[in-house]
Amino acid sequence: MTHAMNMTGGANATLWRHARLATLAGAAGWGLVERGALVTEGQAIAWVGAEAELPAALRERIASEHDLGGALVTPGLVDAHTHLVYAGRRAAEFELRLQGASYEEIARAGGGIRSTVAATRAADDETLFALAAARARSLLAEGVTAVEVKSGYGLSEAHEARCLRVARRLGAELPLTVRTTCLAAHALPPEFEGRPDDYIAAVCDWLPRLHAQGLVDAVDAFCDRIGFTAAQTRRVFEAARALGLPVKLHAEQLSDQGGAALAAEYGALSCDHLEWLGEAGVAAMARAGTVAVLLPGAFYFLRETKLPPVAALRASGVPIAVATDHNPGSSPVLSPLLMLNMACTFFQLTPEEALRGMTVNGARALGLADRGTLAAGQRADFVAWDVEHPNELAYWFGRNPCRRVVQGGSQVFAAVEVKP
Ligand code: NIG
Ligand code: FE
Repeated sequence: MTHAMNMTGGANATLWRHARLATLAGAAGWGLVERGALVTEGQAIAWVGAEAELPAALRERIASEHDLGGALVTPGLVDAHTHLVYAGRRAAEFELRLQGASYEEIARAGGGIRSTVAATRAADDETLFALAAARARSLLAEGVTAVEVKSGYGLSEAHEARCLRVARRLGAELPLTVRTTCLAAHALPPEFEGRPDDYIAAVCDWLPRLHAQGLVDAVDAFCDRIGFTAAQTRRVFEAARALGLPVKLHAEQLSDQGGAALAAEYGALSCDHLEWLGEAGVAAMARAGTVAVLLPGAFYFLRETKLPPVAALRASGVPIAVATDHNPGSSPVLSPLLMLNMACTFFQLTPEEALRGMTVNGARALGLADRGTLAAGQRADFVAWDVEHPNELAYWFGRNPCRRVVQGGSQVFAAVEVKP
C-alpha cells in the first residue's frame, strides 16, 4: 500500500521506505541493505541507505513517502536486446522445427525472418504500435524499465523507418526508456534476391537519412551464414562509424564468422548470442570492453546444444548481460525473469551474474551509464519484488513477484493485491 503524505512547502523529495535493497552498487556482491530506504528527487536517486541513517537535512526535503512493506528492491531491469516491433506469428514454423526442420533450413526456404517481414510490411502503423505496446507492457509488468528495440522486419528504407518510429513512439507513450537499434542488415529482402552486396549498399545509403530523422541510437547486423558476411557487416559498421553511431552485432549465433572480433574492432557496445564464440573473439571483446549479451531464450527455443563460452568470458573480464531477444522466430518470450532462470540453468551464470546481466551490464550494453544500480545520482528506476532475497529472481519460474515499478522517480506499475 502506498501512503503518500504531503508535507511542508519547499520540500520535493520522495522517501521510499521499509525495504531490503539489493543495490548492486559495488563491482561484486548484491550490495544488500537491510531495513533500507531510498530518497528520490525528480527523476534521480538522491540517497540510498539504511533507513535509520537517513540524514536529518535530507529528511527535511521529503514531501511524500511510500511504505514498500518490506519488499526487496532492485534496480529496474534493462532488456538490452529485443525485436518488439513486428506483426504475424511463427507457431507453424515451431511445429516444423519440432518435426525436424532446422531454423536455417526454414530461413533458406523463404520462411523465418522473411515471413515476419511480409506480415510486418502488410500491417498498418497503428496495428504495429498496438502489438509492440502490448509486448512492452508485459515486460514492464515484470520489472523492465529500459528496453532496446531493433528494427529488422521492414528491410526497405520506408519500412525500417516506420518500425523505428513505432519504437520511438513506445518510448514516448509508455513509461519505459526505449533505445532504438537499426537492424536493416537482418536478412535479405526478396527484392534483393541474389544481390546481398547491393542490399548492403542500400542499407548504408539509408542510414544517414534514418539517423537524420532521429530514429537510430545504434546499428546492428546479423553476421551469419543465413545473414551477412563479415565483409558485408564491416561495410555497415563503416557507415555507422561515419555517423558517429555505436554498433552491436548478432554474432556467432549459428556459426563462428569472426563477427565478434570485427565488432570489437569498431568498439561495439555489445555482441549478442555468442554460442559459437571462440578464444580470439573473447580476447577481442575483452580488449574493447564490449559486453557479451547472452540470450538463453533463443538457445532454448531453437533447442541449441552449443553453449556460449561463459567461463572464458568471465576469466577475461568481459561484462555479461542477459536479455530476452523477444522475437517471433527464435525467442517468443515475454518474461525477463525466465531469462534469468535460464541463464543460470543453461549457461551456469550465478543468480547474481544473471541479475547484473539484466541491470548494470544490460545498461552498459546500451551505453546507458546512469542506471543499473541503486546509488545516489543514478536514474530512479527500481522495482519492488515479493521475494526475500535477490537470488529468488533467478529461482522462481512461471511466477511474477513484481509488485511495483518506479521509472524516473514515478511509480508506473503496481500489481493488484488480492487479499483473501
Ligand atoms: O536474434 N538471429 C537473428 N535474429 C533473431 C531472430 C529473428 C527471427 O527469427 O525472426 C534473433 O534470434
Ligand atoms: Fe536478436
